[in-house]
Amino acid sequence: MVEESDNMRKPSIIVHGGAGTWPDKDDVEAAAGAKRAAEIGWSILQAGGSALDAVEKATNYLEDHPLYDAGRGSFLNELGEVEMDALITDGTTLNFGAVAAVKHVQHPISLARLVMTETEYAFFAGEGADMLAQKLGMPVVPNIAFVTEQMYKEFIERTGGHIHIPSLGTVGAVAIDSEGHMASATSTGGRRDKPKGRVGDTPIFGAGGYADDRYGAASATGIGEHAMRTLLCRYVIDRIAEGATAQEAATQAAYYVDGFFNPSNLGIIIVDKYGNLGAMHTTPKMPIGWIDEDGIAHGSMGGSIHGLE
Ligand code: GLY
Repeated sequence: MVEESDNMRKPSIIVHGGAGTWPDKDDVEAAAGAKRAAEIGWSILQAGGSALDAVEKATNYLEDHPLYDAGRGSFLNELGEVEMDALITDGTTLNFGAVAAVKHVQHPISLARLVMTETEYAFFAGEGADMLAQKLGMPVVPNIAFVTEQMYKEFIERTGGHIHIPSLGTVGAVAIDSEGHMASATSTGGRRDKPKGRVGDTPIFGAGGYADDRYGAASATGIGEHAMRTLLCRYVIDRIAEGATAQEAATQAAYYVDGFFNPSNLGIIIVDKYGNLGAMHTTPKMPIGWIDEDGIAHGSMGGSIHGLE
C-alpha cells in the first residue's frame, strides 16, 4: 500500500512509468524519473495550481525522458515508426481530450488537453491529430526525433528476429488539487512492434484514464487490450463510489483482471477525494513516484504482485 488515511490530505499526486518486466539495470533511473515527475506535479499543486496542470506537466517530463514508452523513447511499430496515444481527463466536468497515433507532437498529453479545451470535439486520431497540433501552434517534430538509440537498436535486432526484449511502459499521473479538483493524464507509445494503426487503452476514456471529483482519478498501464476490455479506470472509480479506499479499489482491480486474463499484465494508480493514494500492478515491476503526507517525494519500482505492500 502506498498511502491510506481517512484524514483529508489535499493536494496529492502519484505518477507511474508503466507496468512491465523492467530490466534490473533500469531500476534506479526509472524510479528516480517517476519521483522527479511527482515532484514537478507537486510543486504546481503546492503553489495552488490545478490538478490538470500538475498531471500534464508531470507527464510532459516523462514523455521527454527516453527511458519510458511515451514521447521520446516510445516503442516503434512494425514499420519502425513512433505512433503515440494520450488522454487527459477533468474530474470536475467529466470532460476529456484524447489523441491517437500521433507522429509529430513532442507532448501528446498537451495536445490532448488542447483537444479538450480548444475544440468542440474530444478525440482526434492519426494525420488529423498531427494537423490539429500544427493549427494550434504546436511545433512539428520529425518522427525520428522520438526514436532513441536503444529503440532503434532493438528494432534492428528484432526484425532480425532473435532477441527477447523486456517491455517497459506507458506513463501517467493522477492528482487532486487544493480545491478538491481531480485529473488524470496518460501517455504512451503503445506496444512494441505493434501493427501500424493499432491503438490501445491509453486514449480510451474509462480504460486508460478517468477522473470524477466526487470519487477519484485513475491512470492505467499494461496490455491495452486487457485494460479496454475491463474498462479498468472506470472499474476502480466505481469501487470507490461503493465505499472503497484508493488502495482497496486498486487491490480489487488486481483480482478482477486476474479473473479475466491469465496472466494479466496491468497496472493502475489512483487518488481518491481525500487525497489517499493507491497503486497495483500484476507485472513484476511498475515505476511509481508519489508525495507522502509529510510532503516527502518517493520513487520505487513497485512491489508485490497485488499492490505495493
Ligand atoms: N497501455 C498502453 C497500450 O497498450 O497501448
